[in-house]
Amino acid sequence: MDSASLTEQEISAAAELDEILNGLSRSQKSLSPKFFYDARGSKLFDAICELPEYYLTRTELSIMQMHIDEIATLVGPQASLIEFGSGSSLKTRMLLEKLDRLAAYVPVDISRDHLLSAAESLASDYPAVEVLPVLADFTQPFQLPNPSVMPLRNIVYFPGSTIGNFSPENAHSLLQVMHIEAGKDGALLIGVDLQKDTAIIERAYNDAAGVTAEFNLNMLSRINQEFGADFNLNRFQHSAIYNEEYGRVELNLISQCDQDVRIGGQSIHFDKGEALLTEHSHKYTLEQFCNMADRAGFAVHTVWTDSEQLFSIQYCLRV
Ligand code: TRP
Repeated sequence: MDSASLTEQEISAAAELDEILNGLSRSQKSLSPKFFYDARGSKLFDAICELPEYYLTRTELSIMQMHIDEIATLVGPQASLIEFGSGSSLKTRMLLEKLDRLAAYVPVDISRDHLLSAAESLASDYPAVEVLPVLADFTQPFQLPNPSVMPLRNIVYFPGSTIGNFSPENAHSLLQVMHIEAGKDGALLIGVDLQKDTAIIERAYNDAAGVTAEFNLNMLSRINQEFGADFNLNRFQHSAIYNEEYGRVELNLISQCDQDVRIGGQSIHFDKGEALLTEHSHKYTLEQFCNMADRAGFAVHTVWTDSEQLFSIQYCLRV
């Protein structure tokens, strides 16, 4: 078949299969975390955010609630709020409600469905705010839309400690993209999970109800469904270990036996005990994050944390 007869969807499915096979062919096997988020994965992720052990979401929200007035004062009037990723989350809603006469809300996401449904729901709940969704991969510089009201400044918003899911090197490049998009007088409002006692961190990713394990394993059932693989979910086990040296949680699926998995006409061998890496979640000290922000041209202006210093929200000025 020549490529002209393939639909765009078929081409991207073929590229994704290639990506999967590449990840499974390396000596350290890995799968991209983007494969977590099919419909079931997104539901499980929402459930993770409500788990008693998962302190991140709840703590970030309470820090926001405590300091929203101060945040609004720092941002000032008529800003454009540029969210990296699209959340119809409570935190985004708080900003849309409390920031003074927003010029626009600009969610940026690579997933069209997710972007448009979040944008629509916020546009209908906040009719006074111009919502201008941008379909783009935010790891690369992108063109900002022109709101009908001229923004006085851009505020880049990146909640959820999603920065932690990038390697420190990629996190630094992402901050550089944010620096470009923030523009003159711009600022960054970012949620960053902090280094802390290993037991607290490991509990958050090994919940008693097993939701995180289900979320992790769901990646295999999704790959079975969408790419015709034959992963046996009973033969892999969820693992989340905090690596103190690297300051990161390492999410893996551990092969419980010697086995071969078929995918895309290939056979992939797993040794008993072999790890398949699905995601990293980096935790920072305040000093480490400050240094990284600094190298990307941001000066940390205000840091808010909870009483136990579990999580931080940081307001950084573009310099
Ligand atoms: N960024 C958050 C974290 O690192 C949320 C998250 C992303 C997550 N991927 C995950 C949580 C995988 C659990 C498992 O914790």
